[in-house]
Amino acid sequence: MSRLVVVSNRVADPETQASGGLAVCILQGLRQHGGLWFGWNGLIVEEESDIRVACTRHDNVTMATMPLTERDFQEFYLGYCNKGLWPVFHYRLDLARFTQENSESYRAVNNRFAESIAPLLRQSDLVWVHDYHLIPLAAGLRARGAANRMGFFLHIPFPPPDVLVAMPEYEWLINSMLEYDVLGFQTKTDHANFCRFVFGFMGGEMLSKDTLLVSGKRLTVSVFPVGIDVDDFASMAQTPEAEMRIQKLHRRGEARVNIIGVDRLDYSKGLPDRLRAFKRFLELFPHHHKAVTLMQIAPPTREDIQAYIDIRHELEALSGQINGEFGDYDWTPVRYVRRSIAQETLAALYRGSHVGLVTPLRDGMNLVAKEYVAAQDANDPGVLVLSRFAGAAEDLEEALIVNPYDADEVAQAIQRAIVMPRKERITRHRALMKRIRARDGRKWMESFISALVADRGPDDLHP
Ligand code: UDP
Ligand code: G6P
Repeated sequence: MSRLVVVSNRVADPETQASGGLAVCILQGLRQHGGLWFGWNGLIVEEESDIRVACTRHDNVTMATMPLTERDFQEFYLGYCNKGLWPVFHYRLDLARFTQENSESYRAVNNRFAESIAPLLRQSDLVWVHDYHLIPLAAGLRARGAANRMGFFLHIPFPPPDVLVAMPEYEWLINSMLEYDVLGFQTKTDHANFCRFVFGFMGGEMLSKDTLLVSGKRLTVSVFPVGIDVDDFASMAQTPEAEMRIQKLHRRGEARVNIIGVDRLDYSKGLPDRLRAFKRFLELFPHHHKAVTLMQIAPPTREDIQAYIDIRHELEALSGQINGEFGDYDWTPVRYVRRSIAQETLAALYRGSHVGLVTPLRDGMNLVAKEYVAAQDANDPGVLVLSRFAGAAEDLEEALIVNPYDADEVAQAIQRAIVMPRKERITRHRALMKRIRARDGRKWMESFISALVADRGPDDLHP
């Protein structure tokens, strides 16, 4: 019998809300399966000697967490992970910065994670590592004698080889991925980018659809799109409290049509482009003035990084500009909320909104797109406008798919969504519901675990 050990930098607090797709989908999956979740507790201590692993139990999930030092926070989390890997993997070489100190810190924190996890591991544990913060973790665990089956899932995009090789140490990084038994990506595009790199730069070859042979190693490389618990989200959107929130939203707002956007305040989410598209919509369709409002929920994230400070300023300047130019004493076109909102409230806001506007410039999957669909009223659903550069667009074909860089195209799609006949909205929504059910959170977790277990079944798992 195998236990599942999940490792990620960010862990969710099961008692409070989780912001960010990784924490949301792991928490939901682990609640079903049970297991151990190891990661950063979000706290910062002065010295390495102050670091202790603390364990707490929440039903069938044991959380083992530890703090980072101030130096780790600066050099590992903000530095290597979020000023280096994040922009490169989101195709933004213009924003990527690498330094020797950050690179050393990345290796040191990964080694410390390995050092702390190794004594907790049982021989039969399945180890599942998540996201770009911890790519070399398997190598660290293997160096400490762990022979467990280990898998890695990348929640963010994997860039094309030409982009990747602009990064110092790309060979070391990709070589360290080969220590896993299973590698998982969000989309076919990410999978293809990885394979192109491995074939072109490392002489790898596919032995079968999902089996890669490279540097004498054989590993499973496959696509496992993350999903949500559809029924859970749908029922959150239908509680009496949700109904009250929706009525309040409609009563308070002066507008008849609500458009909603929900994104961490990250440059990958294309928020300024979204506001420019909304402005274009107001220019092209003046008869909608006073009738349409865009509510943008944008909880701040990684606020110490200049690129995030810049994007916030740009967004705030744009929303002020639009409200100044188009707004009136009885109408605020853009309602901008820079705060994290609990998912129960989000579910109601999604349901109360006629258009879900999800227009990232590049995104691993984008759970918000799926949540918006799940929350709709099947008899009178809203319309999802979705960027072709979100991983979700590979599947959600019945959304109105747009190029987020093209303000006119997005403006036209908003107009089309607003005037779309109910019959067409219902047909599209039905098809989208089918898709998000077919690739939900449970399927994501079970298919990855099945690949990891290989010749054993996922039923062998126990907390
Ligand atoms: N979220 C939330 N409160 C907020 C904003 C977002 O709970 O104020 C949740 C949202 O419901 C979704 C996740 O955070 O489950 C965001 O995931 P997504 O894949 O869309 O983007 P990410 O933040 O992972 O890039
Ligand atoms: C994305 C990443 C996650 C990350 C989340 C929130 O979803 O894929 O790894 O946890 O953003 O970002 P943060 O830096 O707050 O962990």
